[in-house]
This record gives sequence, structure tokens and C-alpha cells, in this order.
Amino acid sequence: MKILITGADGFIGSHLSEMLIKKNFDVRLLIQYNSNGNLGNLENSKYISNKNIVFGDIRDQEFCNNLTKEVNIIFNLAALIAIPYSYQAISSYIDTNVIGTMNLCNSALKNNIDYFYQISTSEVYGSAQYVPIDELHPLKPQSPYSASKIASDNIALSYFYSFNLPVSVIRPFNNYGPRQSLRAVIPTIITQIALGSKKIKLGKTDTSRDFNFVEDTANFFIEIIGNEKLIGQTINFGTGNEVKVFDIAKKIMQIMNCNIDIELDENRLRPENSEVSRLCCDNSLMKSLVDFQHQYNIDSGLKKTVEWFQDNKEVFTNKFDIYNK
Ligand SMILES: NC(=O)c1ccc[n+]([C@@H]2O[C@H](COP(=O)([O-])OP(=O)(O)OC[C@H]3O[C@@H](n4cnc5c(N)ncnc54)[C@H](O)[C@@H]3O)[C@@H](O)[C@H]2O)c1
Repeated sequence: MKILITGADGFIGSHLSEMLIKKNFDVRLLIQYNSNGNLGNLENSKYISNKNIVFGDIRDQEFCNNLTKEVNIIFNLAALIAIPYSYQAISSYIDTNVIGTMNLCNSALKNNIDYFYQISTSEVYGSAQYVPIDELHPLKPQSPYSASKIASDNIALSYFYSFNLPVSVIRPFNNYGPRQSLRAVIPTIITQIALGSKKIKLGKTDTSRDFNFVEDTANFFIEIIGNEKLIGQTINFGTGNEVKVFDIAKKIMQIMNCNIDIELDENRLRPENSEVSRLCCDNSLMKSLVDFQHQYNIDSGLKKTVEWFQDNKEVFTNKFDIYNK
């Protein structure tokens, strides 16, 4: 059984790839082509070897057709995900997230894939119209990123309805943990404190999110492999607990033994109607279909994340002092 992970070089993909290898699964890891042979988040991984790796790009249909030969299972995590950049480069998001997903679906059909896991995001719901958010909550594209993910989920599902491609749309709420981009809220708080900032610059702090520790997410993805009940389904993945950004900052300060003022950085504000103010997951469908318990709560996950950034200072020291969109 060969498992293809697209976006293996990314934050979540790198954790999933390493965990699958540790559990002796046979994997093919797609790393986005670059001329330096850089493996992204897998660059220093002791688990991967040359034989697992393919460099390429999901925007190319012919490439995807070859990539998926002799593959049984696909986890599609390749995507452009930064919301601020999606305001500036909309067609890139459509090309990668929508056309890229369509290419993979075409290839999956051609190569008779057994399971196609399309990785969605809670951003597709927009600000909660009710909580907790179940899978029937309206979809509201409050950013081009969200719109592109709504489209990619629906393209994948249309291949299930139209051509019987065994698609499952898995919809994680926010993730955090080791190796996350410095742009994301938790790494930005940790690294500003670690660099000795006098004030922590943040965007809105009264927004709330349902945070999954990335190892839980990767374990969940492994748990669902081969689950027939998920075919044709869209399922949320979240803890059911929401935390405000302000409270996350306070928790991190406590772990890092400091008490620093928080300052509004206008640069980090999204346009008012684009700001997603509240996300909290109803995970009852997930719990009814999959036997899974999160291993981390927000406190234990934050502690592990802080420790990782403290042990890997090279990822954030000597970076330009700009907000990395
Ligand atoms: N990070 C989160 O909080 C979160 C939450 C919910 C859902 N998700 C979803 O999980 C998936 C992975 O997110 P992540 O946080 O690991 O993001 P990431 O940016 O770290 O990883 C995405 C990877 O996709 C690769 N990629 C981009 N364009 C590509 C292309 N054209 N061809 C091949 N590869 C390409 C990039 O190299 C990158 O490594 C995404 O689909 C995202 O929408 C993320």
C-alpha cells in the first residue's frame, strides 16, 4: 500500500510524513520543485530517504499522472495557505488549490486510487454563525484563500458524485506546533518573546480559534486510512474548545516566564469583512465515524511548541524584522 503525501515539505505534511514512516508505511513524498533541492520542513529530517522523495508541482497534469502511478492513497496537503498573501496573488491560489486539486483528482481516477483525502480548512466557514460549527454550517469565503479551498473541496467531491472517486474531505480547524510558519499567530508570539521584544505586536486579539496540536492532526489522518465510512463525506477535525488569541498570548507568556504588553500592529489586521472572528468545531460527526481522542490540550501542546522553538532558534534568529506575510 503506497501513500502519496502532497505538501510533504509543509508544516502539517512534514509531521504526517515522518509519522507514517515511523509506523512503517510505504510513502511517496511530494516536495514542491525548487532548483536547490530544498526539502522544506523535511530538510533536516532523519526519517526520510531519497527513494521516498519526488520534486514537482501539482499544477502540472502530466506530472500528477506520473506521480500517482502505483499509489493507493493520496493525502492532498499541497496548497497556498497564507490569508494575507491570498489578497495579493489570487490567481496563484486558484492555480494551486483548485486546478492543482483537479489535476490530482484526474490522476487519481486514471490510476485507480483507493482513497483520496482532500485536506480542507475551517476557514471555509467564515466567522461562526453559530457554535459549535458542524459540517452543515454555511460556507462563507471571507478571503480568496477560503474561496479557493471551498472550490477545491467541491471539485474533489464532484469527482466522488460524478465519477465515484473515493474522496473524503477532512476539515481541520487551526493547527499549531513545531515547524509552523513564523507568520502564524502562535509562532509569532513565541518568537517575539524569545527575541526579547518589549511589546508583542499582534493583530486582533479577541478572535477565537479551535486549535489542534499538529501531532494530533497527523495521528488522526493516519487513523482514518482505509475507513470506508468516510468516503463521500466531509468531516470536521477539531477539539471542540475555543481560545481567544489574547488568552493564547497569556498562556505562552506564562510558559516563557514573562509578562509583556501586547500592542496592536495595524499591518496584521485583515480588512474588516475578511476577519474571521470565531471558529469552534462541532466534532460529533468525526467522533461517530472515527475512534479518536486528542492527546494534547492547548496547555500541553503550547508547552511542546515553545520548547521546540527554544531548541531551534536558528529558524527565527537573523530574520528580517518584518511581518512575514
Ligand atoms: N496550518 C493550519 O492551521 C491549517 C488548518 C487547517 C487546514 N490546513 C490545510 O492543511 C494543508 C497543509 O497546510 P500547512 O499548514 O502544512 O501549509 P504549508 O504552507 O506549510 O504547506 C503546504 C505545502 O504545499 C506545498 N505546495 C504549494 N504549492 C504547491 C504546488 N503548486 N505543488 C506542489 N506543492 C505545493 C508547499 O511547498 C508547502 O510546503 C493545506 O491544505 C491547508 O489548507 C492548514
